[in-house]
Amino acid sequence: MNIKLNDNFDNVKESYLFSEIAKRVNKYSAEHPEAKIIRLGIGDCTLPLTKTVIDAMHKAVDEMGVKETFRGYPPEYGYDFLREAISKYYASNGVDVAADEIFVSDGAKSDCGNIVDILGDNTILIPDPVYPVYMDSNIMSGRKIELISGNQENGFLPMPNGLEVKPYVIYICSPNNPTGATYNKEQLGEWIAFAKKSGSLIIFDSAYEAFIKGDYPHSIYAVEGARECVIEICSFSKMAGFTGTRCSWTVFPKELEVNGKSVQKMWARRQATKFNGVPYVIQRAAEAALSPEGVKEAMANIDYYMSNGKLIGELLKEKGVWFSGGVCSPYIWLKCPNNMKSWDFFDMLLEKVQVVGTPGAGFGDEGEGYFRLTSFGSREATIEAIERLKTIL
Ligand code: MLT
Repeated sequence: MNIKLNDNFDNVKESYLFSEIAKRVNKYSAEHPEAKIIRLGIGDCTLPLTKTVIDAMHKAVDEMGVKETFRGYPPEYGYDFLREAISKYYASNGVDVAADEIFVSDGAKSDCGNIVDILGDNTILIPDPVYPVYMDSNIMSGRKIELISGNQENGFLPMPNGLEVKPYVIYICSPNNPTGATYNKEQLGEWIAFAKKSGSLIIFDSAYEAFIKGDYPHSIYAVEGARECVIEICSFSKMAGFTGTRCSWTVFPKELEVNGKSVQKMWARRQATKFNGVPYVIQRAAEAALSPEGVKEAMANIDYYMSNGKLIGELLKEKGVWFSGGVCSPYIWLKCPNNMKSWDFFDMLLEKVQVVGTPGAGFGDEGEGYFRLTSFGSREATIEAIERLKTIL
């Protein structure tokens, strides 16, 4: 063929981080069929969907089997009932987001990746370490990327002071994946002030907001000025166990404008062209997840996961291993013992105790020498992993 391909793909690693991990684990498993591997790598929920969610799904499935209540194409931006429910969820956190500013989607990952469609050739500012989708999707689009370092000294919470004042597209993930570091209101206020001063746009990923404990904003719109410079992306995946069910949302406030052009309208145009909406049954399930009973059940599951995180943290404390996370986040971010490199530690854990984690280096160069364990495993698997880790830490 003589067509041109997108050569920017030459600049991303051959495999996506979690695909690379799966490849290595599958290879090990094929070579050691007797091995009982414990997977604490990708942050995938293990508790089933809750009763309220399942009841709503069943009801919606039944509706789809009846002529009078059957639904065809869903609205591209989400059913009004779900957009209203999300708007009310914001209100329960004291934040004002109108239903028509909310765009329902099939995953925060999709929106994080697709957002580049409506943005021009800007300088992209990405914290390091962070969720790799921001980096990979911008490399695929040939964008110029600058990194801002998160490290032990700044508590993995990079701040804008010292940055050149120019327009950027800035990605922020808080609570941070992978470190669990969480910005407080004042710190987010500094980022907003910087965005306004420099004419920048912030893309705020709040996928882990439901894990927050303590006085941290659950939404960046709790901070004054955010509506003029922030797009917020959030998800049902980690909050309500929707990793396999797929539902998320992105907020485009009306105030977001560039030279009089509405960013919200551009996203609406993009979605109408390239997306056919989330299935009715799933949106009914998501609506149920935000009902008072649904939220109560979701919080009980989050408490279960956080207890796993606490157990992992206790082991690391006992062994004198530096770590963060596990407080506002389901991830434990630890320093690899004996200054080991992330992938070497990954290989060692897999080979010696058959425990899978995520190498910190996969989240950026600043993650080298660190490692992430997820608390999304079952209690039994987590306890078994801790017993095995005890023998080598
Ligand atoms: C993770 O493990 O970092 C997440 O599960 C990945 C994702 O949310 O796509």
